[in-house]
Amino acid sequence: MMMIELPRGMHRRVIEAFDIWGIQELYPPQKDAMGPIAKGENLVVAVPTAAGKSLIAYVAILNRFFRKGKALYVVPLRALASEKYEELSELSGLGLRVALSYGDYDDEDKRLEHYDVVVATSEKADSLLRHRSGWLRNLKVIVADEVHLLNDPGRGPTLEVILTRFKQLNPDAQLICLSATIGNSTEIAGWLGARSVTSDFRPVDLKEGVVQGNEVTLEDLGRIEFRARTGNTLNDAVLDGILDSDDGQGQVLVFVNTRKSAETTALEMSDILSGHLGNGDLSELRSISNSIGGSEARVITKLRKAVAGGAAFHHAGLSNEHRKKVEAGFKARRIKALYATPTLAAGINLPARRVIVRDWTRFETWNPRAPIPVLEIKQMFGRAGRPRYDKVGESWVLARKPEEVDLLMERYIWGKPEEVLSKLGARPALRMHMLSSFATNYVKDMTELWDFIKATFYAYQNDTWKISTDVEELMEFLVDEGFLRRGPEMVEATDFGKRVARLYIDPLSAVVIREALRASPKKVTPFSILQVICDTPDVPPLFVRGKESDHVTNYMYAHQDELLIPIPEEEEEYEWYLSSVKTAMFLLEWIGENDGSVEAGEDRIESLFNLGPGDVRNKVETAVWILYAMRELSRLFGSGMTSEIDKVALRVEHGIREELLPLVQLRGIGRVRARRLFEAGYRSVDIIRKAKVSQLAQVKGIGRQLAVQIKNSMEAGEGPMEEEGPEELVEDVGPQQTQLLDFVE
Ligand SMILES: Nc1ncnc2c1ncn2[C@@H]1O[C@H](COP(=O)(O)OP(=O)(O)OP(=O)(O)O)[C@@H](O)[C@H]1O
Ligand SMILES: [Mg+2]
Repeated sequence: MMMIELPRGMHRRVIEAFDIWGIQELYPPQKDAMGPIAKGENLVVAVPTAAGKSLIAYVAILNRFFRKGKALYVVPLRALASEKYEELSELSGLGLRVALSYGDYDDEDKRLEHYDVVVATSEKADSLLRHRSGWLRNLKVIVADEVHLLNDPGRGPTLEVILTRFKQLNPDAQLICLSATIGNSTEIAGWLGARSVTSDFRPVDLKEGVVQGNEVTLEDLGRIEFRARTGNTLNDAVLDGILDSDDGQGQVLVFVNTRKSAETTALEMSDILSGHLGNGDLSELRSISNSIGGSEARVITKLRKAVAGGAAFHHAGLSNEHRKKVEAGFKARRIKALYATPTLAAGINLPARRVIVRDWTRFETWNPRAPIPVLEIKQMFGRAGRPRYDKVGESWVLARKPEEVDLLMERYIWGKPEEVLSKLGARPALRMHMLSSFATNYVKDMTELWDFIKATFYAYQNDTWKISTDVEELMEFLVDEGFLRRGPEMVEATDFGKRVARLYIDPLSAVVIREALRASPKKVTPFSILQVICDTPDVPPLFVRGKESDHVTNYMYAHQDELLIPIPEEEEEYEWYLSSVKTAMFLLEWIGENDGSVEAGEDRIESLFNLGPGDVRNKVETAVWILYAMRELSRLFGSGMTSEIDKVALRVEHGIREELLPLVQLRGIGRVRARRLFEAGYRSVDIIRKAKVSQLAQVKGIGRQLAVQIKNSMEAGEGPMEEEGPEELVEDVGPQQTQLLDFVE
């Protein structure tokens, strides 16, 4: 029996979606939101975790969809994009066409025109705006999920810029912002001209508390005890959640602050837990464990081992596929205990009946034990007790000693989440978005730039006097460095400026690269080029640890005449430079350029640089993106290094020495198989063409199926790819960044 009443003005067919999802009744904050949605008002919904915020956005989308209006749903992370995409796709029976876009290719823009809802990451949305995709003007609903991330120094500025742009570009579209509970949601609503909906309703009761010894202190100062089995509080609290749950379905999610502790704690638990699980469970777990393949890295061996005993870890060092396996195993209720870094916290629905936050501090440059903000702890807490999975939830933070209990109660159990503060004032963000405003013709003179800046949350929260000094200073930088030309009436981007904006790099990176391209060293090697890109602010450096310092320094001086950027004398700059050399050394290993060796395997990279497969992929993607930017700038300036840069870029993309370049163009052949083919004597595409399937099949790692595929694709003329036009490669570049940010921890 459907009991849901819709307000006047709401399209009646919205009910059909509730039927499909099996929604019987709206939660109170959802009810509160229906009226404003029907009236077409903008909304900022700041309510607790699991209160069903997505449904509010979905209703707004459907209300317009049934009147032929199109929507954009912006989320911070890929994983979240997939979840929203799947939920909306369940409505295909209603005719709703949903697209998921993290944008690997630019030509997806065109495709997107034909969908009713586009789910995109914020960086993708930014890149769509930069390309001025026409359909954006026709949007009727724009959703910004996890809008409290305006506060995040990494992701906040881009989110803020897209919201500001949409407000200007598309003032009639309905803006729905979803946020965690924060201190100043009415301020955000004020900025966006939105109505604010707040509430402390949560559909599944969450019992929050502080753990110490074998006891939990709850919000109302009530206490519960759990069994001491191991003498270790965390392990006992986890085991209790799994073994002593009422229905035997308990699962526990633990948040820790480093990858290493995620791994060690998971392995430790796996050992203990396996002794308590039945044979049926264990054999299921073994098969999940066996399905985690494709890597020799130690971290993956550890993962398989942990999973076999019913525990797992989840962090950015794992590749996407591995993370998905872990999430699926946990959702299927096979993996009982999951140890994660906070990457997992935002927005996701998981069957964790109990969440334990082991670490409430984290390393920050100025404070190695900086307390994690309340807002973020509440996000982690909020993964427990999700309506689809559980009837109750428990969220605990661990006190290391009895004296900490009071402090943690005050701060995290009774305390209020912080206010969200704009981070657009940070220089890299501001200079990048100022340049792109001119380069993409969103603004043409200082008045229009000011109109834009005044429309930001940054300006809403800050003194205009302070902002005007910052903006003037950055204008000076952009003009002096040749990105912009400033006349009495108007400001325009130079070719250099336009190119840099399209390449989606920090203008300061472009300055570093330009200086390097002007140098004339004794010789230009892959190291020359890689050191330059690693010296730009777009590539996060690998810091040099004390014991590595000599090794890196020696390498740097031994290759001094290859350097395009002089070694700085000032200490802080020198440290940064040394890090860029270390990062370049990692990429050299990756492309088999160090000490005459072949391409380093995942295990070697892991032991030399402490990077897991997921890190390697992130770093490689970033490097390729900046290398292509460097190549483009080299063409622009006619530097003579273009073809060398091009070659290095291709090699980094595939992780190979030069001789393997032709082989990796074959379908199904990556760096490892290419090396094996090469070592087995198949040194060119031509030799492979002449070989029999049976011969190829004998090469280790190839096998019959792949051998057939290689031969077939060659016959079909798909063989080695045609040479790609350079422009096409550039087009790939902007949106690739969306992937990078998706992985950032
Ligand atoms: N009215 C409802 N009745 C039953 N289940 C609902 C209802 N509304 C939402 N849900 C379910 O509740 C779960 C949580 O919803 P959702 O993911 O939207 O939460 P959220 O408020 O966005 O939380 P978070 O802050 O963690 O992102 C989902 O599984 C959703 O299907
Ligand atoms: Mg959500």
